[in-house]
Amino acid sequence: MRTTLSVIKADVGSVAGHYKPHNEMLRYAQKKLNEAKTTGLINSSYVTHAGDDIILIMTHRKGENDPEIHGLAWNVFKEITENVAKPLKLYGAGQDLLSDAFSGNVRGLGPGVAEIEFEERKSDPVIVFAADKTEPGAWNIPLYRIFASPDNTAGLVIDPQLQRGFIFEVLDLQESKVVELKTPEELYMLLGLLGTPGRYAVARVRRAADGEPAASASTTRLSLIAGRYVGKDDPVMIVRAQAGFPAVGEVLAAFAVPPIVSGWMRGSHRGPLMPVSFKNGQNVVSYFDGPPRVIAMGWQVSNGKLIGLDGEEPADLFADPFWDYVRQKAAEIAVYLRTMGEFEPARLGHEEMEYTTLPLILENLKPRFKPYEEKPTAKAASKKSEPKEDVD
Ligand code: F6R
Ligand code: MG
Ligand code: MG
Repeated sequence: MRTTLSVIKADVGSVAGHYKPHNEMLRYAQKKLNEAKTTGLINSSYVTHAGDDIILIMTHRKGENDPEIHGLAWNVFKEITENVAKPLKLYGAGQDLLSDAFSGNVRGLGPGVAEIEFEERKSDPVIVFAADKTEPGAWNIPLYRIFASPDNTAGLVIDPQLQRGFIFEVLDLQESKVVELKTPEELYMLLGLLGTPGRYAVARVRRAADGEPAASASTTRLSLIAGRYVGKDDPVMIVRAQAGFPAVGEVLAAFAVPPIVSGWMRGSHRGPLMPVSFKNGQNVVSYFDGPPRVIAMGWQVSNGKLIGLDGEEPADLFADPFWDYVRQKAAEIAVYLRTMGEFEPARLGHEEMEYTTLPLILENLKPRFKPYEEKPTAKAASKKSEPKEDVD
């Protein structure tokens, strides 16, 4: 029987600025998903947050892009906004719900979606990643490392099942086009695209040998939907692991050297992606509204349900003290980048700043710009008019 894992997220308001959703919002969402379990719409669920974003994780039998599942998520976000975030005047209440025109799918309306439908294997480990203060292209380096770099994933060299490579589905977020590239044969072309994460982002990865889905990521760019700055997109991603896919440890290794990603303060800066535990208060942003961070939740998907350590409670995969070292590195990089202030490349480049509030400020300067021509200095001009001496 086929199982679908749906991860749908949105920022619909938070406490202390863009810090963390109110606990009542999380409880409300869990209650609604519990009700959906009793009606049989979903089989299991987990509600959490990544910084100020609420993440709904559900398993069901309805397939991807199902109107009832998307409708459930949409209603949860709407109700939380109306019944909790707005009455408590939480910050950015309803922020990511960009339109009221729900017609069966939340894609394009603001929330981010990652979904995978698959036939359960004998045993099926999955990892769900959720990031705050960054964009979908933040997964480009980790996904390249996980599925295409033999320096990261030993299985690409050692395991015959992985050696036939993977197919990357890459979206051009500006042109709304998609291209498929097969690794290892087309790796260099793939990197040609993934190196521009603001424009190209990986939507899915499949195993080349049999087309089996390996990963799925959200690709929502809020600013492209809204045509203005609405915070960063704070993407989510599902990765299947082990027995013919990269091992859990190979998947996590891709985060050991923090990639520099776009987002952070005002969605306008580059910073290191810090892997954090979702226990002990690490899963919130503070320094300069960041740095951008990512949590990793591990489950087995068994008989259509999420099986964690205790019921649906997932394994906290970045809790190992090893990751303290990575967090320390990320903090050093973050502080170093901030010494550059508002200069590129610490601040995003001109094109990416288009959707922020900076153009409004630069617009006011426009009338003060005057035509400029290169004029000779007075000294150079007088020298030019002096008679030339005769040379014998
Ligand atoms: C980034 C983010 C924050 C805000 C910043 C200013 O995604 O959400 O860094 O951009 O705190 O927020 P406003 O303009 O709401 O005061
Ligand atoms: Mg927010
Ligand atoms: Mg956020």
